[in-house]
Amino acid sequence: MEKNGTQNNDYIIIKAVDDGVSVIGLTRGSDTKFHHSEKLDKGEVMIAQFTEHTSAIKIRGNARILSNFGEIESEIKK
Ligand code: TRP
Repeated sequence: MEKNGTQNNDYIIIKAVDDGVSVIGLTRGSDTKFHHSEKLDKGEVMIAQFTEHTSAIKIRGNARILSNFGEIESEIKK
């Protein structure tokens, strides 16, 4: 069990619809900062979890995101 009760076995799946999708991890705790950025090209998939270190995930670019909540699309505004 991690501290703060952040243990969570759920994954989110991000599939890039276009090149240049960024998956950005934001820190857990009193300050919320970017700690990791991953670039995905079209068709690439990232499978990620929320962890002791990661409380939020920001996705920039055109992607499909699957989670327990269902599916949503992120879009770059035109
Ligand atoms: N080392 C990070 C962590 O354990 C890796 C990570 C987990 C991550 N989930 C992420 C990075 C989501 C980017 C986005 O928290």
